[in-house]
Formats: sequence, C-alpha cells, structure tokens
Amino acid sequence: MKQLTLIGFMGSGKSTTGQMLSKELGIPLLELDQMIEEETKMSIPDIFDLKGEAYFRELEHIVLIKSLNSRGVIATGGGILTNSKNVEQLKSTRNVIYLKGKDSTLIERIKNDSVNKRPLADTSTELEITKRLENRVNQYEEVADIIIEIENKSISEITLEIMNQL
Ligand code: S3P
Repeated sequence: MKQLTLIGFMGSGKSTTGQMLSKELGIPLLELDQMIEEETKMSIPDIFDLKGEAYFRELEHIVLIKSLNSRGVIATGGGILTNSKNVEQLKSTRNVIYLKGKDSTLIERIKNDSVNKRPLADTSTELEITKRLENRVNQYEEVADIIIEIENKSISEITLEIMNQL
C-alpha cells in the first residue's frame, strides 16, 4: 500500500483515523493543515485572519499536490474540494476515502473540540455549519472511491473497515 487520501467534513475524524492507519500500514501521515502551518509558521486561524481564505486554499492545493507525489496517508482539511483543481486531481487518484457522518454528530464534535480551532465553524451557527456541509456532501461522494459511515464506530473499527476495503 503506497498511498490513501482521507476526505470528509470537519469533525469526521480524518486526522485521528489517519494517525491509526499510518501506524497500521507503516507509512507516513501527511496532514495537510499541519504542513501548511509548518511551511508558513502561522496557525490556520491566523492564516484565515491575516491572509484570507483564498490564500489558504492556494497553499492547501500546493501541499496536496506535493503529498500526492509521496507515499503516505493524506489527511485533508474538510474544505479541500472547494478548489475545483483539487476535485479534478482527487477524481483521478486511487484510494480516496470519504468518512461520512450525520450533520448532528459532526456539529456536536466540532462544538466540543477545544483543541482544533476552525475559522469556518467556530463562530458559525448550527444552521450555517449544516448549510456548508450540505453544499459539500455531493462532492465528497463524487470524488470518493470508498465511503465509510462513521456513526457509532470507534477509530479502530473505522481503521479496520478501511483496511479491509483496500
Ligand atoms: C476547513 C477545515 C479545517 C481546516 C480549515 C478549513 C474547511 O480542517 O482545513 O479550518 O473548510 O472545512 P478539518 O477538516 O481538519 O477541521
């Protein structure tokens, strides 16, 4: 196994699942948000605040392309498909896995997450988050090779399910 890419909305567990998959498969974890933070030496909220979303999306595209040329588990950010270049790129990439959750579950996780700061969710209402999710769901499904339902499953169960489908 050379490479797989996790996509899905904020709160769907892309990073935690990515960590476990990377261990199990013995390949590196490539976390796009973290790569952006390392390269810019800025936090994600600061990039949004000081440089704007369009700038963040350009960086996100660059680190995606770099990662797709490497071996590893790629944990994308929830908005990776807002850039049409990434949609085209991921459509022609194998092993793209969509971690699919219900609106209510994702919103609850986002609201209860005190570690990750999310500029496009932390100050939004539940209705705004739901709308953003609804706008993205079709694209996640369109791009994915494998869809994994995350409801009521532990990270280990999700990881195993993914490994069984590769
Ligand atoms: C975003 C999701 C975040 C991060 C940024 C934008 C989005 O990643 O890339 O805040 O547009 O959904 P997570 O999905 O890991 O929270």
